[in-house]
Amino acid sequence: MIIEPRMRGFICLTAHPEGCAQNVKNQIEYVKSKGAINGPKKVLVIGASTGFGLASRITAAYGSGASTIGVFFEKAPSEGKTASPGWYNTAAFEKEAHAAGLYAKSINGDAFSKEIKDKTIELIKADLGQVDLVIYSLASPVRKHPDTEVLHRSTLKPIGGTYTNKTVDFHTGKVSEISIEPATEEDIANTVAVMGGEDWAMWIDALKAENLLAEGATTVAYSYIGPALTEPVYRKGTIGRAKDDLEATAFKIADKLKDIEGKAYVSVNKALVTQASSAIPVIPLYISLLYKVMKAEGVHEGTIEQIQRLYANRLYTGNAVPVDEKGRIRIDDWEMREDIQAKVAKLWEEATTETLPAIGDLPGYRSDFLSLFGFEIDQVDYQKDTQEVVEIEGLV
Ligand code: NAD
Ligand code: NA
Repeated sequence: MIIEPRMRGFICLTAHPEGCAQNVKNQIEYVKSKGAINGPKKVLVIGASTGFGLASRITAAYGSGASTIGVFFEKAPSEGKTASPGWYNTAAFEKEAHAAGLYAKSINGDAFSKEIKDKTIELIKADLGQVDLVIYSLASPVRKHPDTEVLHRSTLKPIGGTYTNKTVDFHTGKVSEISIEPATEEDIANTVAVMGGEDWAMWIDALKAENLLAEGATTVAYSYIGPALTEPVYRKGTIGRAKDDLEATAFKIADKLKDIEGKAYVSVNKALVTQASSAIPVIPLYISLLYKVMKAEGVHEGTIEQIQRLYANRLYTGNAVPVDEKGRIRIDDWEMREDIQAKVAKLWEEATTETLPAIGDLPGYRSDFLSLFGFEIDQVDYQKDTQEVVEIEGLV
């Protein structure tokens, strides 16, 4: 079978098994090339199949030789349809990990549900006893609340007033103005219910109640801040309220973990092309300008570079974990550098359909987007027939 990208709006309907596998291999090689990290040994990653969560799993396994359990929500291949990228990523990760003698098992299902939490708890009990790191890296548009069964939908809206700014269609390169109507109180509450900290706390409570968190265990969830430019639609919008809630939850969890000397952190990561971020208006234009500036300065990073640095230079240095005035780990430090932000802000003023090819990195954006689905990966021959991947080793 020859698989090509098939786009519909901001999503790609197809994924390439070998391309995804190559992506995973490249991330593994990167982590190995950076040397050993005196890091975690038994790790649970919630949201482990793509983006920052996948990078967290790979860094734990190949940086520190950790046993990993990954939880995610991905589609297996079906009649006439490829699997979702996270399915192929995980199939490749499991295969590589097992060949390298590393323990790796995976659970595919709704992490917000009690059923999947119970399943994960049983697996940890049976195989690992306890975990010493829990990464929480979910990005989802919906959450069915386990107690009320209400289906909450998150939105990406400004709060208090209509927001108008530039945006780009990264497929065509057309820069246009977009206006987004403000959120209702219900939109805000729903977004906090999906992307806020409640489910993270539920996971930690459930694990702790069963004594599955090792003495000194750490848990980390991921957040984003970004520049003033995107504030109305991101940090001061509905998703920002959810991130405020997530960040506040880190303190609540830290309190609950005091008796086992556990730690809970939010790490603020860099803006990157992922399935989630491509759907946010304004952000793709910001990212394409940011990439151009960061690449020129030699400080551009992808998810694996970010997370390798998070483990090696923040979490597992042997010293206290450095945090900002709000207790957050900052791995977005290079994105937020004053000189970088000043350059991006200036380019933002200049950005039009005509100027963007010269001042922005749309090719980099598109290529990163396609590579999320296993396309445009250097080492892959796309003219060659691919093998469908119907099984994930270690899937429980
Ligand atoms: P992603 O879409 O690549 O990954 C999301 C993961 O969550 C996948 O493994 C997916 O399978 C899993 N998932 C989604 N719904 C699920 C469900 N119901 N049950 C189980 N698993 C489910 O997203 P990402 O960009 O890596 O985002 C991860 C976190 O990092 C988010 O909190 C996001 O806000 C944050 N973050 C992202 C950026 C960025 O620019 N992309 C920057 C900073 C922080
Ligand atoms: Na993730």
